[in-house]
This record gives sequence, C-alpha cells and structure tokens, in this order.
Amino acid sequence: MRVLIVEDDIALGRLLREFLQRLNHEKVQVCATGREAGRVIESETFDCAFVDLRLPDSDGLQLLDTFKSKDPCLPVVMMSGYPTMEYTIEAMRKGASDFLTKPFTLQDVALALERVTKERKLLLENLALQLEIQARKELELVNRELEEKVMEQVKLFEISRAIDEIRSSEELYPSIVKLASKLTNLKKASFFIFPPDQSRLILMADYGTSVDGCVPGLFTMEDEYLRKMIDQHESHVIVSSDNLRTDRSLLNGCCADSVSLSCWPLRIRGELFGFLMGYHNGSGATLSAMETKLLDFLIKKASLAVENMALYESLIGNFYGILRSLVNALEAKDLYTGKHSERVTHYAGMIARRMGCSEAQLETLQTVGYLHDIGKIGIHDSILNKPAPLSREEYELVKKHPVIGESIVAELGLTLEERSIIRHHHERWDGGGYPDGLAGDEIPILARIVAVADAFDAMTSKRAYRGAMGKAEAVRELKKNRQKQFDGDALDAFVEVIEK
Ligand SMILES: [Fe+2]
Repeated sequence: MRVLIVEDDIALGRLLREFLQRLNHEKVQVCATGREAGRVIESETFDCAFVDLRLPDSDGLQLLDTFKSKDPCLPVVMMSGYPTMEYTIEAMRKGASDFLTKPFTLQDVALALERVTKERKLLLENLALQLEIQARKELELVNRELEEKVMEQVKLFEISRAIDEIRSSEELYPSIVKLASKLTNLKKASFFIFPPDQSRLILMADYGTSVDGCVPGLFTMEDEYLRKMIDQHESHVIVSSDNLRTDRSLLNGCCADSVSLSCWPLRIRGELFGFLMGYHNGSGATLSAMETKLLDFLIKKASLAVENMALYESLIGNFYGILRSLVNALEAKDLYTGKHSERVTHYAGMIARRMGCSEAQLETLQTVGYLHDIGKIGIHDSILNKPAPLSREEYELVKKHPVIGESIVAELGLTLEERSIIRHHHERWDGGGYPDGLAGDEIPILARIVAVADAFDAMTSKRAYRGAMGKAEAVRELKKNRQKQFDGDALDAFVEVIEK
C-alpha cells in the first residue's frame, strides 16, 4: 500500500514510517506540514492517509477536504492528542474513516490500517460498479439513439422507394395518405388539392379510420381561409376543428367532437398545389420529432413526383401529338382511306365499352388505337397508294407494318398492353394472322377489338380498285369470320352496337 503520513511531530512521523515499512508497504511518505502534504497529494497517488488534526500551518480538517476532493475514495485516519466531540463529528462528516487518539500504540495503527484498507476496497468496488452501471446506461442510450436513427433511415428509404415506384398520379395520392398513416400515429390522412380558379378543395385520397364521422369531402373554401393559413407556413400547421367549424364553417358541422388537424403543404415550384391533412384525436396534435421529419420528407418527395409526372405527361402528350400528326399526314396522302385511324378508334371504343372494358383500357384505345397503323410510315407510298390489288411481294412488305409500328413507339415506355394493339391488330382468332401467328386468347383483348373495327372500316371504305361495301354486307362478312378471323365476343359486341 502507499501510505501518506502528515504529522508535525518528527519523531512520531519517523516511528510510524519505520513501523509501516516493516510491514512491507509499498511506499510510506511523511509530511511535516499541511502545505507540503497539499503539494504531494497533487502529484502522487496514495491508498491511505494519516493526518494530524493540528498542524503548524493548517487545520487537519482543511487538509481532509483537500484529500477528499482529489480522491473521494481515499481513506483518511485523523490523529489528535486532544480530540473534542465537535471535531470528531466534523471530521466524520467530512469523510474521515477513523480516529486515533494520542497516545496510541502501533497495534492501534495496524488495526486502523486494516479497517480502512477493507473500507477502501469496498469503496473502490462500489465506484467500479457505479462506473459500470453508468457506462451501461450510456451504452443503452447510444444504442437506443442508433436504433431510432436506423429506424428513421429505414422509413425514409421506404418512403423514397414507394414514391419512386409510382408511375401515375392516380397511384400517387392514395400512396401519400397510406404512407402517412402507416408511418405515424395518425388515425386518418387525406390529400386535397387546390384546383386553379376554383373555390372548392378536391379530395384526392383518403386513408385510415374515420375520426368521429368527420367527412373531409365536405370542406369548402368560401374565402380561401384555409389556403391562406396553410400557405403562411413553410412546414405544417396545426388547425383545430373547432376553429374551422365555428369561425369559418369549413367543416360543415361534420365532426361531433373536437379533433386537431395537421396540414402539410405540398408546393410545386413554390406555388401551393395541395396539402396532406392528418387527423389527431382530441384537441392537441401529437407528433414526435421523427414523425414530423418523415411527413416533411414524404411531402417533399411527393412534390417532386407530382412535378416529374406533370413533365412526363406533358412530354408524352406532345409525343402522341407528333405521332398523330404523322398518322394524319400518312392518311392525307390516300384519298380513299382518309381518317381511317380515327374511325377505327371510334369503333374500337364502342366495342370495348360494350364488352365492359375498364376505363384504363378505354383510355389506352383512345390514344394508342389511333396509332395502330403508324408502322405504314415505313412502307413505300407506291405500295400503300397502289390503285390495284397488291402483288405477293408487296403484300409481304405491307405485313411488316405492325412490327415497324411497335418499334416506333418502343422508346415511349408504353406498357405491353399498349404496344400489343399496334403489334397484334392483324392476328387472327384461328392463328393464321401476322406477325406472330397468335391464336384465340393469346391475342391481347384490345388488339382483338381493334382487329374487328379495322376490318369493318376497311370493308366500308372505298378503294381505288374497288367500291365501298355497304354496312349490312360488311357486318354479314364479319359474322362469317366469327371465331375464324375475329374474336366472337368482340364481334358480337360490335354487331350489337352497330345494328343499334
Ligand atoms: Fe393495319
């Protein structure tokens, strides 16, 4: 052990040092004054100290304070020839471990040393334990923060991936409200847009459990109160349903109890486009910092997606416009077939509606049906406008137009269904058509529909080398080819609508 003795009685100091050295202690140092002891304790470490209560230059109690502030676990044994109760209590209060009253025997010193050694051991173990507990707590805190960070990153990634995978605005708004509800504790989320030049908000999507029958579709914008309020905030704004209902009649009394709403503005190039509305139970909206961050991120991603989609739709619209112009130019050269594509699109739309096709399929026919013969751009005019039946070689060339057409639109990113109209509109139900010889249900439905419309318009149009067939005769001709050239269902639907 390393022992420090502070004793102004030189003889006693020496005696104690010799005694402790005989007990094989590692180091025994004696200081005769408080000043010297103060210097020593600053630069060296000890396992125990014996301090005389009365020193020539300082009070032993002051020295006790100095020792304890340097090492709170250092056991200090106070020594005094005239101990008073007051001094003893004060020394114990300041952390003294033991008291030796002069004159004492060396045996007393050995016993005191043994006691304080045990005490120091316990104190150090206790300290180590406390440090370990503290370190464990800090580690748990760091782990928790790390877990939250990872969780946040996972959720941000989830938002990013979900929004990036969206290809149309029809999918976008339901995804925004679904993500908002899923990633936060919102009971319900809705997305509204402010249509230009209109005073009403439009509800685009809604997700979650209704809060007390609150119907968001009933919002009105009589004086643009809500728009102005949302527009004033960079991030979200919390609105009380009570305020909206009583002050501005925006909720039309549809919320039985008060709820608070958080509105998250979505801006496109700085202009307010719409907002996400979150419904919170009760009057105080409670969103954690992480939820706020996630919703902010979601809105920013959605804003970029809306902008990109608008750009893409505008580009695609322009491209379709160019292709339609090409089709028009192609048909303008042929005095006999003029507006063939327009009529085919019209007939195909009638058939599809009759057959109960979806709105998306009807839209596809409307845009891509018009382009079904665009591949004829790749066939020489002398063949296309030949005022006589085609030779075998010429017919083989004409048969390439579906494949040429598909290659023209391939770079547009059209879906398989959209491209199939162009590629397969000359396939036959019995498999004898071109370019792939598909049969029956192998032929995509929209291509089968266009095939019927195309054939009817071709038969009822005048050609340079033949007259136009009457509608009734053309229908009879179509019927003869039911389940041979044409899909029976598509043909029946067409006959029903044309005969009406
Ligand atoms: Fe064709």
